[in-house]
Amino acid sequence: MDFAITINNIHKTFNPGKPNHVNAVNGVSLSIKGGEFVVIVGSNGSGKTTLLNLISGSVLPTSGSITIDGNKVTKLADYNRSKWIARVFQNPMSGTASELSILDNFRLAAIRTQAKGLTIGVNEVFKEQVKEKIAILGLRLERKIEQPMGTLSGGQRQALTLLMSVMDECKILLLDEPTAALDPKSAEIVMRTADKLSKDFKLTTILVTHNLKDAYNYGTRIIQMAEGRILKDVDAMHKQLLKQNDLYEWFG
Ligand SMILES: Nc1ncnc2c1ncn2[C@@H]1O[C@H](COP(=O)(O)OP(=O)(O)OP(=O)(O)O)[C@@H](O)[C@H]1O
Ligand SMILES: [Mg+2]
Repeated sequence: MDFAITINNIHKTFNPGKPNHVNAVNGVSLSIKGGEFVVIVGSNGSGKTTLLNLISGSVLPTSGSITIDGNKVTKLADYNRSKWIARVFQNPMSGTASELSILDNFRLAAIRTQAKGLTIGVNEVFKEQVKEKIAILGLRLERKIEQPMGTLSGGQRQALTLLMSVMDECKILLLDEPTAALDPKSAEIVMRTADKLSKDFKLTTILVTHNLKDAYNYGTRIIQMAEGRILKDVDAMHKQLLKQNDLYEWFG
């Protein structure tokens, strides 16, 4: 099982036949290898989020097909794919519950994913396991697990959201501008965490970003979208040869 994603001539039209119809995704074909880390760039409204929604199943396509790990998932509801797919959004507040402690947020995540690596029932054991996991981040948050999530900074929350979301069976990580709301230092922590988790767990990873520096520094492949289509697809070999300035010229 390598959790490759194969997208074949996918289209998504919102409000079909109405004056306000939009061809958000307009014939995208794309093969992503298991464990590959793809960065998607493109201007506002170019269909990046819709493409992620199609992969996660929160939006179903108008036509075309999607295969994940060899299984056709084109019409499979999102809750039937969610055990493999972790998503992190732009808003640090959207992934976790503010009023609950870090520990309780992990408890919820563990229940949701039925994490096999965690012993949810036994309090002290669970606590130690959560502390161990959080320590990986290097943010010293393992000392604060009784603290409400809402007392943390956006960057700390986003890093924890990432960690929670890749627990257990998750094989695909979809990141939609995960650092857009963060200061540069927090953004770097979150990006490094995503990169580490992606590598450690061999996750098939897609990062949507408007930050060309991140697009340059992370991932093995860059795709540019425009008007619902793929305009450029720079593979691993060519991405290595890219200079940061080339990126600005192409995508800036
Ligand atoms: N649920 C929806 N109903 C109607 N139109 C939608 C819906 N979702 C997206 N669209 C439209 O589809 C197009 C693509 O939107 P999408 O959110 O995928 O763009 P994006 O590349 O993620 O942009 P951004 O960089 O601003 O996040 C836009 O014109 C948008 O208005
Ligand atoms: Mg978007």
